[in-house]
Amino acid sequence: MKILVTGGAGFIGSHTVVELLQSGYEVVVVDNLSIGKREAVDAACKIAGKEAEFIHLDLTDEQATISIIGKIKPDAVIHFAAYKSVPESLSEPLTYYRNNMISGINILQAMYKSSCKTMIFSSSATVYGENPNIPFDEDTPLNPVSPYGRTKSHYEAVLHDFCIAHKDFTAIALRYFNPVGAHESGFLGEDPLGVPGNLLPYVTQVAIGRREKVFVYGNDYDTPDGTGIRDYLHVTDLALGHLAALDWATDNQGFEVFNLGRGEGASVLQILRSVEKACGRKLPYEIVSRRPGDVPASVCKAEKAATVLGWKAKMNIDKICQDAWNWQKINPEGFNPHYAVDGLPSTLTAQNGFKEK
Ligand code: UD1
Repeated sequence: MKILVTGGAGFIGSHTVVELLQSGYEVVVVDNLSIGKREAVDAACKIAGKEAEFIHLDLTDEQATISIIGKIKPDAVIHFAAYKSVPESLSEPLTYYRNNMISGINILQAMYKSSCKTMIFSSSATVYGENPNIPFDEDTPLNPVSPYGRTKSHYEAVLHDFCIAHKDFTAIALRYFNPVGAHESGFLGEDPLGVPGNLLPYVTQVAIGRREKVFVYGNDYDTPDGTGIRDYLHVTDLALGHLAALDWATDNQGFEVFNLGRGEGASVLQILRSVEKACGRKLPYEIVSRRPGDVPASVCKAEKAATVLGWKAKMNIDKICQDAWNWQKINPEGFNPHYAVDGLPSTLTAQNGFKEK
């Protein structure tokens, strides 16, 4: 079965490529490399010991998208490609609507023309936004508070309408909570451009000495330790959720949404303590004021994915932080093929045909 992964050079996309290859799927990655990195696809292939085809493509180019999808003829598409910064979307809303909506519509159009009838879409917990109904189940009314969040909820609506018009189509929107961690090999992980906006990569960069201290955005929330609570899940658990959705799509049509999270919250200070445990030292931090737009808590009800897809996140916070730290330690400056090849455990080296330098 051939799977097209849009945005497969990104953080979640590349981890999903590993799991797809390891499960025997044929994989084609398309990415415009505006956020994602070619090294992530290479690392994913090396970890899996298999090849994936890579095509440099910007999905906002309608004709190129139709032509390339027509040649690839995928059996299913996992659509990750999108801009993803909340603050950036607030200052550049048109850029976000143009990129995320147009690329989404183009890929759907191209799939229709080449008779590909299954899409798994990378949605986000951000569609619940400011919402008192914690933990969120999939029926919680949506209230996204940023243009980024609205591109996710609007595109869910596009998929819903498309499935009504085309009864043999399956579209599954996976609402991710906070994907973090790294592949346990240590050779694939999150490599943000510039200063990390998200908590975990910031904390591991403090731990490796690239940044001075962690800034904790507020300790006056109505939470047990006063800091924000999120439902963090391991990126490999999340990747496996896509495989469960693909399986489910083979026997089901129509539009469905699933939360993918652990169903448990952790506070900023708990994450800090867990990274300290992993790296073996205390990390400096300072409490600063709340970050505008942050919600006090975001935690999901994970029952629907467990019951319907048979998927459950398995890895806990300590394992998540251990893997995130391991990735940072092996790749202090982000993707570095030199470290990756030289540092590979000998079993992986032999099994995946790495050449010693
Ligand atoms: C954001 C996105 C979400 C996305 C997720 C993972 C929103 C509004 N934003 O979520 O769509 O899925 O990233 O990419 O939905 N924090 C600090 N110090 C820092 C950074 C963060 O204290 O340097 C705190 C935040 O206030 C928050 C928690 O850590 O309480 C998590 O923040 P972050 O990792 O940025 O994720 P979200 O904002 O939840």
